[in-house]
This record gives sequence, C-alpha cells and structure tokens, in this order.
Amino acid sequence: MEKIIIFDTTLRDGEQAPGASLETKQKLEIAKQLESLNVDIIEAGFPVASPGDFEAVAIIAKEISRPVVCALARSLKKDIDAAKEALKKAKHPRIHVFLATSKIHMKYKLRKPEAEVLKQAVEAVRYAKRFTSDVEFSPEDASRTQKEFLYRVLEAVIKAGATTVNIPDTVGYAMPQQFGELIRLIRENVSGIDKIVLSVHCHNDLGLAVANSLSAIKNGARQVECTINGLGERAGNAALEEIVMAIKTRRDFLPFTTSIRTTEIYKTSRLVSSLTGFTVQPNKAIVGRNAFRHESGIHQDGILKEPRTYEIMSPEDIGLKISGLVLGKHSGRHAFNERLKKLGFRLKSKELERAFMRFKELADKKKEVFDEDIVAIIEDEIKQIPQTWHLEYLHIVSGTDTVPTATVRLRYKNKIIQDAASGDGPVDACYRAIERITGIKGELEDYTIKSVTKGREALGEVTVKLKYKGKLFTGRGATTDVIEASAKAYVNAINKIVYKG
Ligand code: KIV
Ligand code: ZN
Repeated sequence: MEKIIIFDTTLRDGEQAPGASLETKQKLEIAKQLESLNVDIIEAGFPVASPGDFEAVAIIAKEISRPVVCALARSLKKDIDAAKEALKKAKHPRIHVFLATSKIHMKYKLRKPEAEVLKQAVEAVRYAKRFTSDVEFSPEDASRTQKEFLYRVLEAVIKAGATTVNIPDTVGYAMPQQFGELIRLIRENVSGIDKIVLSVHCHNDLGLAVANSLSAIKNGARQVECTINGLGERAGNAALEEIVMAIKTRRDFLPFTTSIRTTEIYKTSRLVSSLTGFTVQPNKAIVGRNAFRHESGIHQDGILKEPRTYEIMSPEDIGLKISGLVLGKHSGRHAFNERLKKLGFRLKSKELERAFMRFKELADKKKEVFDEDIVAIIEDEIKQIPQTWHLEYLHIVSGTDTVPTATVRLRYKNKIIQDAASGDGPVDACYRAIERITGIKGELEDYTIKSVTKGREALGEVTVKLKYKGKLFTGRGATTDVIEASAKAYVNAINKIVYKG
C-alpha cells in the first residue's frame, strides 16, 4: 500500500486562526506532541512574519529530530533568508515558498502579469534550493487558477528544483469531484510531476476540506496538508484526525497507509484545544466529546451486544480510553500515577504531588472520576506558567433580588490581598474584584464554559480570552464550581499577561 505523507500545519496555518496565537513554549509543546503523533512534516511557522514566529521555528527546528521541519516563505529573498536562518539547526529542513497564480490574485493583490509571476516563482525555488534540497512550492489559490497557466508554473518550478508541489484550495471554493479532477489533470499535463511529491492543502469554507483532500488522494495526491481539530484561517483547514481515520477506517475504498500513531490523536486534539483556547464542538468527527457516545436505548443495546453495530472505529484507536469509573477517593498515589502513564503523562514528582492533591479534592466532591477529569486536572494544574497571582478564596453573593457581589482573596509573593466588587452577575463581580486587586484590566473577548464529563457534579472547564494592549491572552480553569473555574481562568490569563508582558 502506498503511503500518504501527513504534513501538519497547525503551528503555521492553524495558528493564523484569529485568536489562536500561541507562545513559543506552547508551540514547542505542540511540536513535540506532533512528533509523538508521528506526523511526517511539521510546518512550524512563517519566520519573516514576526520575531516571535522566527524564534518558534528556530527552537522547534533545534528540538525536533524525526519529522521534517518546514518554514513558510513568500517568493521573496528576504523571506527565504529568514526561513533558512530559522531552520539552521533543523535535522531535516524544508523551505515552503508560495506565490499566487489565480487571475484575481495576480491582478489585484500582486499587480503583476503572468510572465513576471512565473519568473518570480522559478527564481524563488532556485534561491531556496541553495539552502536545502527539500523545497516545496505552492501556487496560492490554485483551484481558481487558469489550468494552462497552472501547468506551466508547476512545470517550471519542478525544473527549478521543487521536490514537492502543493495545490492549495486557498479559499475553500472547490467541490470534491472537481478538485479530484484537477489533481488528475495536473498529473496528466505537467511533465516531471511523477518525479516529485504532489500535495494538496484544502480550506473548509464550504465544509469540504476533508472531502476535497480525500478526493485528491484518490486522484494521485500523496501528501496532505492539514491541522489538528481543523484549526485555521476562517473556517479552518482540513482536519488531520478526520483524514487519517478515514484512510484507516475505509481501506477498502482508500488503499493507503499513513505513519500516524492514531492512539495519540485524542491527546493531541486536547492539547491544541487547551493551548489555543479553541474548544472542540461536541459533535466534531473523531475528537468531539460525543463522537463515541451512544445515547439512544436501541444504540446502547446494540453496542453492548456487538460494538460494531454502531461503531465504525473504536475509541481506543484514537487513544480515548472509555474506562468508565477510573479511580475513586480511596485510590492511592501509585494507582493514580499508573493511570496518568496510560493517558500519556509522565510527571515529575512535585507535579505528581500537586496533581494527586487535586485528584483527591475532586474525588471528595465527585463520586466518579473519569479519564477526561484527570486530563483536565493535568492541563489546569501542571501545564501552567508561573502563578504570580494565585486564587486563595472566593465568596459570592448572588440571587434573583440581590446585586451580585464577589469577595476575592489573591496571593501575590506571600502577600494576601483581598477586595470586593459588585457586577452584572457573579462572574462579572468576580472579574471586577480580580481587576481591582491586580490592577490589570483586560477586555474580555471571549468566555466559554463546558462540562468535562456528564453529571451534575462534573468538572466545569472555563476558557477566557483577554485582550490586553492589543494582544490576546487565553486563560483556563477547571473545578466543580463554575464560578471558581471562571475566576481561575481569569487569574490564569492575568498570569500570562504578567509573564509575557
Ligand atoms: O491556503 C493557502 O493557500 C496557504 C498557502 C501558503 C499554502 O496556506
Ligand atoms: Zn492555507
């Protein structure tokens, strides 16, 4: 069976999603998890775009050993120089150059005629080739490009040394049959195409990114560019987990393999969701909370008799261990640590101690502690930046006929500071009190709340996005009390402001 190369662009195109920006440390954490997932290529960023992007690509290039690390560049010398510089320490560097080729982009955006665009693309590939043998070229907006011109550009960049050519459906305009046909025509009309890797990159504006990618594979594409949870510009990119599981589940129709360790999918999805603050919709294919849940009696009965009656994949395939009741309040440290290892976490002894304390507190409040609860505790407690401000105490007065009031006590460098405030609701009152204490007043851009598992005593997980001096900071908090979780999320975002400035 032929292999489909998985090119992950979560850290580049995914991070372009408005509000999804990540710090370098978080990008490195995701890159390491992508390595555990065993993706073939990690597109780590767009180095010329900002010093932060440059730094992230450089660190990822240094730290990641097996996958190819790729940096994006416009077809300009200064972009390619920045990409080369950022990739200096990469074991397997790739430079990805792109240039728009559709009439609309050439006329209004580039303001250049075809001949000039073609020349620029060739020169860019030749220039990138001086630094690495692995060069990818993307004719941006390829699906809306005149076919004859597209063939000419592809042929020319292949002659110039491109080893991968990537066909982007930049604006998510293509239909699956049409996009598959385009790939077939490219294979039939571009000389030299059989010597290089043909790739696709689909956006999801019409909800067809995965369908278009699969249709392209059927017609000869051998690399797909995708992101975890389908994160990306506008409606996002093709979701990695959906493409990989479609190939794995429908081998009869798609006789291909990928290198992906599918049991790492769930963990990767959780990590990207928690670090970007983009929650995954419950009915999202593969990684949504409900993707493997069966509510109707008829379905439950079928599943108990034979899981394959209603399950085309098993939850274990994506690393989701539906183990029901995992641990209870009598469980010890050893059992807890063993469970953590099964979930893929290796904690240092101090971290383990903190996580275990949180687990015990939770087990006291909650009869059943599920794997999802444990994952939430780890993400909430362990993967933290320095806790400059720490929530010590919270008291809320709220009701139908009362002005909601919050009394909050925060710890700051061994000093306890208390203040109170009223607001439109208990959360607002709480946030006002926190602002009074810390002196930091951000603009609340987004607030989401979800339960981690089912049941009244479930953990509530709150994510906030706070805008401060033009930058967005994401904070998370999870406890069984949703107001406390809201306060923790807010304090977490403030700690990021203090840490990152
Ligand atoms: O969508 C797009 O066209 C891109 C290119 C840079 C590949 O992201
Ligand atoms: Zn894109």
